[in-house]
Amino acid sequence: MSISVSEDWQAYPAPAKLNLFLHVVGRREDGYHLLQSVFQLIDLADTIHMRLRPDDQIVHHNPLPDVPAETDLTVRAARLLQTFSGVQKGVDLRVDKRIPMGGGLGGGSSDAATVLLVLNRLWGLNLSRKVLMELGLKLGADVPFFIFGRNAFVEGVGEQMKEIETPDCAYVVLHPPVHVSTPAIFKDERLTRNTPLVKMRGLNDIDCRNDLQAVALGQHPLIAEYLAWLSQFGTARMTGSGSCVFTRCASQGDADRVISRLPDDMTGYSVRSVKQHQLREFASDC
Ligand code: C5P
Repeated sequence: MSISVSEDWQAYPAPAKLNLFLHVVGRREDGYHLLQSVFQLIDLADTIHMRLRPDDQIVHHNPLPDVPAETDLTVRAARLLQTFSGVQKGVDLRVDKRIPMGGGLGGGSSDAATVLLVLNRLWGLNLSRKVLMELGLKLGADVPFFIFGRNAFVEGVGEQMKEIETPDCAYVVLHPPVHVSTPAIFKDERLTRNTPLVKMRGLNDIDCRNDLQAVALGQHPLIAEYLAWLSQFGTARMTGSGSCVFTRCASQGDADRVISRLPDDMTGYSVRSVKQHQLREFASDC
């Protein structure tokens, strides 16, 4: 579950996700879009190191140079939980990033969800999963999914979910080196025309497209080159608002072989599907 890095620091995983498909089905009055999507956890993960402090400070030991504490999702998650619960405890945290940022893999949201789940345990709060998911939604639309912690058919702006069985498989994920701005993608007027609602029965009878892909390709043409390269090996699609693209492989060996053929100037990962978040037990379903 957690790996000791020193006597009191503990390490906790924050897994990435793929959107196996993503349909935009409407827009709310506040500008947020209604989605239908299948969120799939994968074994590409950040690691969050945390330890209790003797005071009530929240201290981030390796913040990214261009991300101030007020906008860092891990710090915001800890502060939100502190304010909500009134607890007078603090935490030291350090993040080892492996999930590319601005890639549509949910890294920042997953980090925030891991902080909420772990502090719920470390601070002895015993908050239910439902409450943590509601708090998580204040930090970002993808955060509730990572607190839910199982592969899911997701609706609303990202807060309604139904657990679904997804196949155990491998994926190749490529990371075009462009930083996609999620708000800039969602601003595109083309997304306001409603697309039909999906009835989620099984993954096989769904039009597996990502409605954000055409918009992201328009803003970042480099993504098209990565999609074209990956399409040699199977159906390739973008995840989230991009920039990462992925294809499913029959086995981990196949995924590794695709990665071994990757041109030197491209970055990619061979990953496996994950059934559930390892920290799921850190919140209760009551
Ligand atoms: O919630 P999150 O920070 O991930 O969203 C970033 C931005 O993406 C939002 O401010 C909003 O403009 C857009 N968005 C949206 N509909 C969603 C999720 C995000 O319009 N369901």
